[in-house]
Amino acid sequence: MATKMTAPKVLAAKGGEKLRMVTAYDYPTAQIADRAGADIILVGDSLANVVLGYDDTLSVTIDVMVHHTAAVARAKPRALIVGDMPWLSFHVTVPEAVRNAGRLIKEGGAEAIKLEGGRKRLPVIRALRDAEIPVMGHLGLTPQSVHAMGGYRVQGKRAHAAYELLSDAHALADAGVFAIVLEGVPDVVAAKVTEEVPVPTIGIGAGRSCDGQVLVFHDVVGLGGGEYLPKFVRRYGALQDEAVAALEAFFADVRSGDFPGEEETYHMPEESARVFRELTEAPAGDDLLADEAMER
Ligand code: KIV
Repeated sequence: MATKMTAPKVLAAKGGEKLRMVTAYDYPTAQIADRAGADIILVGDSLANVVLGYDDTLSVTIDVMVHHTAAVARAKPRALIVGDMPWLSFHVTVPEAVRNAGRLIKEGGAEAIKLEGGRKRLPVIRALRDAEIPVMGHLGLTPQSVHAMGGYRVQGKRAHAAYELLSDAHALADAGVFAIVLEGVPDVVAAKVTEEVPVPTIGIGAGRSCDGQVLVFHDVVGLGGGEYLPKFVRRYGALQDEAVAALEAFFADVRSGDFPGEEETYHMPEESARVFRELTEAPAGDDLLADEAMER
């Protein structure tokens, strides 16, 4: 049996075999991700869009993240469990950020946390490291900055912005993150960060040079209901279609009376069924039942 993944093992995987990361938001998706061989399970704040139906990730709270992280942790995966810090859970004060991250670990069972942002997050990252909490960074297209970015746009397309992103990655690595997610950045920028920074990069829409790749579970297996799929997603399944087909077959059997069949039905012992029939058919049945009730 494969041994448990830890933050130090992820860090040590830099430049080795590609890291496999996927989101999961509950017990069954965590079990599936783990059986498939994930190295890292991210309880992403993307659960806001993917599972809870919000338009963006901004509405999800630390309470909700703790709730879902705990469901994932109950699957006891081999994969490292990373809990995502939602918007405003680490932006107000450093002590509040540490307390919120601590909740993901203590109540949610996360083994590391992820937070979005570059150099301005350094005080928080240092405080989390002081509290012995492994931190994963997240640079590039950071969905919590949707309004500041003016939409979901690829980041680091211009030379200056790319240089800033590279500097952010160095700063995060110096502050002690064990890995960095690079989302929505040009491949050459991700390749440069991966080459220079001594911690694994995990790409999503960042080309193939990264030390690992991550996608959203529902996108990979085709469980999402949305029409829009980002360019960087590759679908490997069509579970929503399969689920609809299964339910249609169930509903058809309900209408036709074919469900439930003999094998899906509980039966009384024959003798009890006979007495029950007599009780309900005999004119004195009501009295018999009343007598029985009095005796009890
Ligand atoms: O919340 C999330 O799912 C993420 C990944 C896309 C990296 O942050």
